[in-house]
Amino acid sequence: MRRSIVAGNWKMNKTIPDGVELAGALSDGAGEFIDSCDVVLCPPFTAVKAVADRILGSEIDVGAQDVHWESSGAFTGEVSCEMLVDAGCSWVIIGHSERRAMFGETDDAVNKKMKAAISAGLKPVICVGETLAQREEGSASEVVRRQVKGAFAGVSGEDASKAVVAYEPVWAIGTGRASTGEDANAMARMIRDTLAELYSHDVSEAVRIQYGGSVKPGNMAEFAQQPEIDGALVGGASLKADDFIGIIRAMIDSKK
Ligand code: PGA
Repeated sequence: MRRSIVAGNWKMNKTIPDGVELAGALSDGAGEFIDSCDVVLCPPFTAVKAVADRILGSEIDVGAQDVHWESSGAFTGEVSCEMLVDAGCSWVIIGHSERRAMFGETDDAVNKKMKAAISAGLKPVICVGETLAQREEGSASEVVRRQVKGAFAGVSGEDASKAVVAYEPVWAIGTGRASTGEDANAMARMIRDTLAELYSHDVSEAVRIQYGGSVKPGNMAEFAQQPEIDGALVGGASLKADDFIGIIRAMIDSKK
């Protein structure tokens, strides 16, 4: 049985004091019941270290929202894997649709970032998902399949099995219009089948798959009850302690 994983992507929100306050509220409020679920907070770069320090020794992990694949050098504005580890990260989100759409991130860049993260000991959350136009024209599976193949190209089975894939249909992100549990489960199944083709049945069963896109405390159970869905990548609802705790609780209760 795969361990559940709920991650909060704070995006470009929270100053250092606000982030530390939220992290503190989460570790105080969720501390007792999260032993059956990985919980990861992904603050903006500026707050990573302070958040990591605040929750040190708790069950909660810290991740970053992006990383560069090179280890150091003249890459103005970028942050390396080593720097993230140094700041207290154990996870990193890679290939979020906002990075793909607004910052030109390609499948090749996602692949390079994934390899760099793994070799630095960071656990990657690889984001994939189709746009509304792609869904409407019937190419959702093909698009997501291509993103999965691109991300995992040249990654060993052993490393692949440690990755998390977040299926996030672009049309569901920040819109309040979540996918249905059934549709998300079908896409997660398709992702697993793609991994089975690339690697083996065992690897495809080991990779954890999250759903993301307008997840709230009230709809988490619909996704968590699906056999192929192992967790959630949460944006807006991860910015309030009560909502995020409600999501973690719904995740855990649904998999009991
Ligand atoms: P949302 O964002 O929960 O605000 O829809 C999800 C994400 O972008 O990861």
